[in-house]
Amino acid sequence: MAEGRVVHTADRTLSGRQLASLLTPPPEGRFGYRELARAVREALLDGRVALRLRLPAERELAQVLEVSRTTVTGAYDLLRESGYAHSRRGAGTWTALPDGQAPTALGLYPEATDEVIDLALASPQAPRELAEALAEAAAELPRFAGAPGYHPYGLPELRAAVAERYTARGLPTRPEQILVTTGAQQALSLVLAQFGRPGDRVLAENPSYTNALDAMRGRGMRVTPVPVTESGWDTGLVDAALRQTAPRLAYLIPDFHNPTGRLMPREQGRELARAARATGTWLVVDETLTEMALDVPPPAPFAAAAGAGAGEQIVSVGSLSKSCWGGLRVGWVRASARVVTELTRTRVTADLSGSVLDQLVAVALMRRLEPILHARVEELRRRREALGLALARHLPEWRWSVPPGGMCLWIDLGRPVATQLAARALRHGVRVEGGARFGVDPGTHEHRLRIPYTLPEEVYEKAAERLAAALEGAPGRFSDPALPEWVA
Ligand SMILES: Cc1ncc(COP(=O)(O)O)c(C=O)c1O
Repeated sequence: MAEGRVVHTADRTLSGRQLASLLTPPPEGRFGYRELARAVREALLDGRVALRLRLPAERELAQVLEVSRTTVTGAYDLLRESGYAHSRRGAGTWTALPDGQAPTALGLYPEATDEVIDLALASPQAPRELAEALAEAAAELPRFAGAPGYHPYGLPELRAAVAERYTARGLPTRPEQILVTTGAQQALSLVLAQFGRPGDRVLAENPSYTNALDAMRGRGMRVTPVPVTESGWDTGLVDAALRQTAPRLAYLIPDFHNPTGRLMPREQGRELARAARATGTWLVVDETLTEMALDVPPPAPFAAAAGAGAGEQIVSVGSLSKSCWGGLRVGWVRASARVVTELTRTRVTADLSGSVLDQLVAVALMRRLEPILHARVEELRRRREALGLALARHLPEWRWSVPPGGMCLWIDLGRPVATQLAARALRHGVRVEGGARFGVDPGTHEHRLRIPYTLPEEVYEKAAERLAAALEGAPGRFSDPALPEWVA
């Protein structure tokens, strides 16, 4: 090992049974040592198995998988030789990534141009009701203009409207429990600032919403990942991660999770809330996408399903960005009145208060929320179908499972080439985010692309054509620098 290199040891342990449940079973029914190493590598690269996780003892894994101990030893040796595991006497063997495996992320939010199709942002256009809402807000503005216009908790009318909506959806809420913020993003930053200190642990889904992960890292928090796969959340793994690390916070997107689109069954939410309560962990529930229910009825608020007594430890975050428009910059926190007051103190140090005009527009939009949502969901269904058809036509080898809601397909490319493909795609006129942007650990989810279906239907044919052109003739040139021979 190179001198001076920082070697991180394991900070969590995975049992043999847990690891076995996360591995894709071998085609032959039983693992050989190469297949086992390949399966562990694959699970690591797509985020099912976290980085720096202690692998089970060889004897234990051999027993669970019904293979010989030599098979497991051989697999661990291969993983070590290729940099996907490290070990030290007495500390066991833990997952790692080879040096140089961290891909560079694409730049954030460049201004859109006519030439580039932007498949990186999952944000819809404003509803047609915006003009009407603006006119209504303008007419109401003089009523507020005689006062200074600072409302650190949010405009009383908007707090009341948000509280009413929670109540109607099954979670009785008073206006004092709402803090209006500059989008859900500010809500998240405030909650992290309030509850998290540098060095604190925060549990997060893997993959997860990039800007939330960046905010956690930016605060110097240590992120403990738990996987979300096509089959959703694994309660046992979340429970074990909570017990092993007792994080200060857990950040969840249970409703149409970004980027996978999965919906957490409410019974599972109840169990997770119970587990979080046992470790004194604050649950930060991001419900930004909750109204984007395309194939299922809109879920009840997580905190309602979590059961009586749990409310105090749950902070919910919401937004009008997906149901109405991101350009409004209106989101909120729903928590106990005490927590709302504490968060507001922090908020004042950031921006004093939100814009009165924007909040009046938000109130006017909320008066029309049912028809806006109806049209939004219809539109997303049509766009999801158009995207799926275009991809199937031009990129038949790509795979995805259609999510019940949300705004994105989480595409499986079959090979870990997403960062390189995204870079090439930009040259072909498509901006798209590789899966690594959503991974807790750099270098993972490299075989995934997130493609939103928030653009008009007619765009997808051209977008898929360009993506296919970016891929065309390139497979040989897409190199996986860390691809060991035994994987081929
Ligand atoms: C899960 C999630 N949370 C928060 C946000 C940020 O929302 P806002 O525009 O309200 O700040 C987004 C936007 O993409 C999101 O997907």
